[in-house]
Amino acid sequence: MVEDGKHREMKALFDGHVVFLTGASSGIGAALAREFSQQGASVSLVARREDRLRELKREIESKAGQAEVCVCDVTDRNSLDEAVKTTVARFGKIDVAVANAGFGVTGMFERLTTDDFRRQFATNVFGVIDTIYAVLPFLKASRGRVAIVSSLMGRVGLPTGTPYGASKFALCGLAECLYYELAEYGIAVTCILPGLVESDIRRTDNRGVVHEDMPDPAPSWLVMPAERAAKIIVRGIYKKRPEVIVTHHAKLMILLSRHFPRTWRWMVRLATKRRMGVLERRRRGDLNRDA
Ligand SMILES: NC(=O)c1ccc[n+]([C@@H]2O[C@H](COP(=O)([O-])OP(=O)(O)OC[C@H]3O[C@@H](n4cnc5c(N)ncnc54)[C@H](OP(=O)(O)O)[C@@H]3O)[C@@H](O)[C@H]2O)c1
Repeated sequence: MVEDGKHREMKALFDGHVVFLTGASSGIGAALAREFSQQGASVSLVARREDRLRELKREIESKAGQAEVCVCDVTDRNSLDEAVKTTVARFGKIDVAVANAGFGVTGMFERLTTDDFRRQFATNVFGVIDTIYAVLPFLKASRGRVAIVSSLMGRVGLPTGTPYGASKFALCGLAECLYYELAEYGIAVTCILPGLVESDIRRTDNRGVVHEDMPDPAPSWLVMPAERAAKIIVRGIYKKRPEVIVTHHAKLMILLSRHFPRTWRWMVRLATKRRMGVLERRRRGDLNRDA
């Protein structure tokens, strides 16, 4: 909610809007669903795990919000088209699409294979591209907004992150090109670059399997609560910002790598030299040792 300067009333940012949100069953996506709903939007919850989506729908409806469940795999275009159809049948339009579904394939490049890259790109890149194709006619009609969830690693390359980093760099390129093209239809494009945010991503292995019992290996003091990230992201989308960087550490790292590239590369090499094996195991709790 925001305060209106003149009337000092609390006004919801997305009153009457319909949001199509992929990756809504967990982490940032689930927090975005709650925040959009709180800001007056009807939310279409898109992901594969139906039980989680139904639970979230119940929670949103218990607070007088409106939600629809769309069980969908973003690597399957037909499944995405069905999700869009269900959304429009229920709510009549789409004003905002958030292409958020994704996961991370990581590890030393030499230990990975082309198939690891293909699996990563199928979800993180082609899943996003197909999401946008599926919603585009409706966004053109509503002159709406599209948000693409990339990552800090869409601007900054780090060791053991080749498939994930390459997929997220691709999304930044996609978002930047689309920004100009879709402006012709009155559609705003926002690229989201989160740093470390509370979610299941670091508990998910290279095949996309979530290990729920595993603790998040990231240092807790650096990890932003998903609710806080969602507030920042929703406001950025509302303001039609071309880019939203989430977390202070992400802002700092992007700034250093952009404006002091030599110093930045020296710092990363110093921090990771001879420790890459350790880094790989720590980052993922060695989930992918046998993958
Ligand atoms: N958390 C962070 O620190 C961080 C940092 C930078 C960027 N990001 C990005 O933020 C986005 C959300 O991730 P998260 O951190 O919230 O992780 P998460 O808790 O693991 O959530 C990932 C979401 O993506 C969905 N998903 C994965 N593959 C899918 C597929 N093939 N079809 C449909 N849905 C799929 C999952 O749902 P189902 O399994 O139910 O399908 C889940 O809802 C990702 O794009 C991630 O790369 C996260």
